[in-house]
Amino acid sequence: MSFPLPSTPQGDDRMQDRIKFSDADFKVIADLAMRDFGLNLTSAKRDLVYSRLLKRLRVLGLEDFREYCALISGPNGTDERNAMLSALTTNVTHFFREEHHFKLLREVALPGLIKTAKEGGRVRIWSAGCSAGPEPYSLAFTVLSMFPEAARSNFRILATDVDPEILKKAEAGIYPEDERKGIPEAFNRFTESAGPGKFTIGRAARELITFGRLNLIEDWPISGPFQVIFCRNVAIYFDKPTQSRLWARFGDLLSPGGHLCIGHSERVLGPAEQMFKAVGITAYQRHPGIGRGAPSFEEPKK
Ligand SMILES: C[S@@+](CC[C@H](N)C(=O)[O-])C[C@H]1O[C@@H](n2cnc3c(N)ncnc32)[C@H](O)[C@@H]1O
Repeated sequence: MSFPLPSTPQGDDRMQDRIKFSDADFKVIADLAMRDFGLNLTSAKRDLVYSRLLKRLRVLGLEDFREYCALISGPNGTDERNAMLSALTTNVTHFFREEHHFKLLREVALPGLIKTAKEGGRVRIWSAGCSAGPEPYSLAFTVLSMFPEAARSNFRILATDVDPEILKKAEAGIYPEDERKGIPEAFNRFTESAGPGKFTIGRAARELITFGRLNLIEDWPISGPFQVIFCRNVAIYFDKPTQSRLWARFGDLLSPGGHLCIGHSERVLGPAEQMFKAVGITAYQRHPGIGRGAPSFEEPKK
């Protein structure tokens, strides 16, 4: 069966009547996206899958979706499966997105954590699904504004994403000037100019962060505990059972009393609800005494 034409065929879409997209092709893509990334591609996403992956076909010089499916299913398909994920999800992010979570950090979580670090204790924050970096850098700026010596203590931020290309951007940490607008004026001191129209992240913030590739639906080479986990606007791509498992795994890795911040359209549901109490807009605190207290922390293998 061929793919139905959209009602407004224009630009890239003009090719649609020539490139077949069968039910079987869609199933191969949807099954792989679920197996490898937990991505929930329901039939309602079929148009989106077609138009986003049509661009990949062009880049790769492939004739049709059958060839594309053969590539992503084959032994040399790893890179293209990653590119497929990038094409099907969005990396949209910005500095101090959902500011209420940073307020919670400043006012509730960080005072105690900074005290712990100053007394020689270990503090770990995880930005899971960090995209191009504004989220972990915003976390670092917030920490540094309250604890300038953080890098000389055992206070660290782990920033992970499944997409190797977006991680390269995050590590480079170079942004167009107009992305600076989300950063409160007082925090501009943690940034530096990177030439005309660009800025970058200063050393103090970089020193706090370790970047690594990590697929949230696979095994995690980390053992925690974390005191804060930000996983925002990532689980939205997963189906409900995958989301439920994710919340429970975060609960297991969080210290008693630790905070979990999730995206504006996400909710902790399922068995993990018992591990958390809601403490703000899409913010949760792990109940003390429930879940596994993980004894050690290793950085993810790169
Ligand atoms: C919309 S961005 C969210 C960025 C940031 N957390 C924020 O809220 O601004 C979603 C990110 O989730 C990542 N992602 C999607 N599936 C993932 C998975 N299975 N494991 C880890 N990261 C994933 C994508 O690569 C993308 O960078």
